[in-house]
Amino acid sequence: MKICVIGTGYVGLVGAAIFADWGNEVVGVDIDPKKLKMIESGEMPIYEPGLSEVVLANMKAGRLSFTTSLPRGMKDAEIIFICVGTPQNEITGAADLSAVWAVAREIGENLDGYKVIVTKSTVPVGTNERVKKIIRKYASKGKRFDVASNPEFLREGSSVEDMRETDRVVIGSDSKKALKIVRSLYEHLNTTIVETDLRSSEMIKYASNSFLATKISFINEMAQICERAGADVSEVSYGMGLDKRIGKYFLNAGIGYGGSCFPKDVAALYKTSTDQAYDFKLLRAVMEVNDRQKDYFMEKISGHFGKNLTGKTLACLGLAFKNNTDDIRESVSIEVVRTLRGNGARLKVFDPEAMENAQKVLGDEMIEYSEDIYETLKGADALCLLTEWKQFSQLDLDRVKKALNGKVIFDGRNLLDKEQVQKAGFTYYAIGKRTNGGDYKHFTGVSAILEDVSDE
Ligand code: UDX
Repeated sequence: MKICVIGTGYVGLVGAAIFADWGNEVVGVDIDPKKLKMIESGEMPIYEPGLSEVVLANMKAGRLSFTTSLPRGMKDAEIIFICVGTPQNEITGAADLSAVWAVAREIGENLDGYKVIVTKSTVPVGTNERVKKIIRKYASKGKRFDVASNPEFLREGSSVEDMRETDRVVIGSDSKKALKIVRSLYEHLNTTIVETDLRSSEMIKYASNSFLATKISFINEMAQICERAGADVSEVSYGMGLDKRIGKYFLNAGIGYGGSCFPKDVAALYKTSTDQAYDFKLLRAVMEVNDRQKDYFMEKISGHFGKNLTGKTLACLGLAFKNNTDDIRESVSIEVVRTLRGNGARLKVFDPEAMENAQKVLGDEMIEYSEDIYETLKGADALCLLTEWKQFSQLDLDRVKKALNGKVIFDGRNLLDKEQVQKAGFTYYAIGKRTNGGDYKHFTGVSAILEDVSDE
């Protein structure tokens, strides 16, 4: 099939490469010529395991090419995918769809025969209907087309693999012909293909991301109760997750969720609900809990050192919004680093992939960018674990002890084994569990019950 993919961000570039890898002829379109040059030379604008190999192999095989010209890119395509960014409007929380509208107009102006225009970008309910109206307005009379929605569920850091082994494919359209054409792209995959209407398809994406964010906020709330009541949230999460109806994924308590999707999508769905004069109370709580979670982590640090951190040096491991990516958009780790600096601390930081991106937004004031994990720890008063990279969960505690000045660890992702760390002589703070670093005298709920028994 001949395919045009507009936008070479995470969704577009991975999509274009994998469609080509499945044997289709794909043209990727982007307005940024520098970015396309980089991609063509094999240098990916994003860190994504396996991506450069698929891009280069398919370019070499002649199935994948790039252009800055949308008219040229869409010329012979049977399907056009819209994969442009839909960032969050800072003031309203709504998705900013200006790039989608601009692309729809250009598609309309250049439409030369029947095509299916498919939106892959995450867009609020009703967007595809407006895309259809815009294309119709700008297309010359008699030109035929259909629109479809085909949301993407890939995760950064594993998007190549996610696209090949997806749990489901969702396609929404009011045209049987369009559904059939888009389905034919995915039919070879051993997965369920959900065919539905445009609005439900758009909603499935928001509902999925918001539900996952709800799971995270739920376990973060559980962490608060566990710590107060003397339970361990990691044990609770494991025990809950074995129930297939609940599932073990997205139940890791931490400093909160970040990234380019969850914060934006939860806010956008909440905006959709208020637009429909409905107050989605649960989603409001999901956002509030997520905002509070980093304060809870900061309180542990100020509980130990006092709020004013002047004269203290803290080693921070992890800057990306999660592991296996160089992306720092809406990264809670970056927010924590900023707050620590704001409270007067000097910082030594390290991330396996996100150093360059982090330095761009954090600058150099009070921050030293280290070469590796143990270099970061040298001479610091405490270690803060902020992003869930696997290598951080495998720290050599003897080396950590030698390098750190103060023997204190604040584990914002519950990466380390509580018993081992405490046995090794550290003062340890984690999320949702009682450790030797905490002071629980003010949590009276459980002791009140115990006292009742001793009174008998
Ligand atoms: C998400 C969705 O998973 C994906 O399906 C969608 O297409 C895009 O949005 P992504 O943003 O790449 O993907 O990251 P994800 O792996 O979902 O993690 C999001 C955030 O939640 C990260 O900050 C991560 O650290 C946090 N998280 C995740 C937790 O705090 N606890 C968990 O148990 C899981």
